[in-house]
Amino acid sequence: MGFLFLLGHRLTWQAYHRLDDIHGFFDYLAKTYPDICTVETIGYSIQKRPLKILKISNGNAGNPGVWIDGGMHAREWISPAAVTYIANQIVEGWDDMPAHMKNVNWHIHAVANPDGYEYSHTTDRLWRKNMRSHGRNCPGVDLNRNFGYKWGGKGTSANPCSQTYRGSKAFSEPETFYISKYISNFPRNTFQAYLSFHSYGQYILYPWGYDYRVTNDKSDLDRVARQAGTTITKSTGFKYTVGSSATTLYPAAGGSDDWAKGFAGIKYAYTIEMGDTGRYGFVLPASYIEQNGKDGFTFVETVARAVTKTKDSRRRKIRRRS
Ligand code: ARG
Ligand code: ZN
Repeated sequence: MGFLFLLGHRLTWQAYHRLDDIHGFFDYLAKTYPDICTVETIGYSIQKRPLKILKISNGNAGNPGVWIDGGMHAREWISPAAVTYIANQIVEGWDDMPAHMKNVNWHIHAVANPDGYEYSHTTDRLWRKNMRSHGRNCPGVDLNRNFGYKWGGKGTSANPCSQTYRGSKAFSEPETFYISKYISNFPRNTFQAYLSFHSYGQYILYPWGYDYRVTNDKSDLDRVARQAGTTITKSTGFKYTVGSSATTLYPAAGGSDDWAKGFAGIKYAYTIEMGDTGRYGFVLPASYIEQNGKDGFTFVETVARAVTKTKDSRRRKIRRRS
């Protein structure tokens, strides 16, 4: 085992992998590319599994930070698969990455709900929530209803047996609490984007999710999302629907994206719902990982381009227009 850790990793993008393989892949990257990769355990889940993130950086602390999470909902296996695909593309392709990818500090949390993810592999393929136990009752909190912005609003349930149970209070769950703690520990404006990977439906969604309202900078979020959608369609042919969460999908409060934007002040907060559009749904065959990984990478690269536009180049553009 020790040798395996030294020499390589077990992750592929031809199959869905267990948590150990994913974490082993992160450790492998940190070991192999210590100049740009580090791993950090930001806390532990309800069942004491590590909440492990991969950081990729050229060492410039002043770069815009981009947060990526996947696997908040256990059964959405394509999400950790696409997120690790993206991490692999960035790190293994680092030398040839364009400046807008290198001048970002990446914080990648591939499996935000590690207990639920494992449970969906061993016991119940369609498990969604975390593994919080409520005595003899149905276990689990919906982590994407547990974040502390407009917590308890529309599209959430106070019933522990519900698939959208919001928990006993905002950030009652370690899996959400440690994300908020990690991000809040950085100075405000460190993070310029917060990207949550879910499935399914092929949507690029921006706040708000808690209600049918839009943000003041909706046109910026909409423009970047549409750019990503157009580029995805040009490259793999797949189509993504763009819009605000509540109006495009349904209202649901306590989501990570709303918290990122509404509380943490992170401008480009998105939820991307990967493939497919319903033929296989959550049980998407592994043969679709590569395409979804590619599409996810296109989305991430489009956002990276938007957040690395320097104040200078923006000013130049404005001057040229006038
Ligand atoms: N399918 C996701 C969920 O139900 C969508 C989340 C969109 N964001 C939001 N804040 N409602 O969790
Ligand atoms: Zn989800």
